[in-house]
Amino acid sequence: MDHVILKTKNVKKVYNADTLHAVTALHDVNVEVHKGEFLGVMGPSGSGKSTFINMISTMDYPTDGLVFINGKNVLNMSANEIGHFRYENLGFIFQEFNLLDTHTIFENIALPMTLAKEDPKEIEKRVVSAAEQLGIGDLLNKLPPECSGGQRQRAAIARALINRPGIIVADEPTGNLDSENSEELMELFEEMNRKNGTTIVMVTHDSYVASFTSRLIFIKDGTLYKEISRGDRTQDEYFSEIVSVSSSSRRRKREEP
Ligand SMILES: Nc1ncnc2c1ncn2[C@@H]1O[C@H](COP(=O)(O)OP(=O)(O)OP(=O)(O)O)[C@@H](O)[C@H]1O
Ligand SMILES: [Mg+2]
Repeated sequence: MDHVILKTKNVKKVYNADTLHAVTALHDVNVEVHKGEFLGVMGPSGSGKSTFINMISTMDYPTDGLVFINGKNVLNMSANEIGHFRYENLGFIFQEFNLLDTHTIFENIALPMTLAKEDPKEIEKRVVSAAEQLGIGDLLNKLPPECSGGQRQRAAIARALINRPGIIVADEPTGNLDSENSEELMELFEEMNRKNGTTIVMVTHDSYVASFTSRLIFIKDGTLYKEISRGDRTQDEYFSEIVSVSSSSRRRKREEP
């Protein structure tokens, strides 16, 4: 459990640096993610959550500071090594789904396995089973634009899970799901985390969704401002603390002059 799998050290991210539109999205972020952990990331809109998630998953690189994967400095890894790491270890669920609109739901879900040149029979078997598990088994021949937001979200989730990755990085995975489907997804995450030891890093706005995590970090204005853990508490007790931390951060923001 105390193997650090992902780590940021004084990570700073400036978008459009050296222009009039420079935005410092992260200031000095130090976070360690342990193998087998279910870590949540919360914070107001624009606080830097997606940016943080992009840094730890090698989707983007910091302006300053270091990112380590399995103890290795990402900046010292070759593009090939990073590609390998992503491909063998990471399942992404993006805030904007990132499905290919000209490919069917089947092809979209199959993509990581197709890229890995896996056996078509095995691909078919796993795609069908993942799609059924997520309730989109009858949509496999449709194109993403023919599906609802929630259905596309579930296709993106199936795609992220298809390779059985050791780490899942999810940005608002329940953003387009109703409460029943959100709960089902969290139960699935919880099961993958407990049974398979899958490491999960998940951004969410939703306190109830957050109560499924084992630890939560709160980001505000690009800095880490609070961290809480579930510990031995019940989910209800943890949920209450999450609600109170979230609302106190909002209150403080409103009281600012
Ligand atoms: N590609 C980009 N170019 C310029 N600015 C960006 C870019 N991406 C994000 N930003 C800015 O960086 C800051 C942090 O954005 P980020 O997307 O990380 O926030 P977030 O916490 O994920 O918000 P949300 O909850 O709305 O998804 C914001 O001010 C945003 O406008
Ligand atoms: Mg975001």
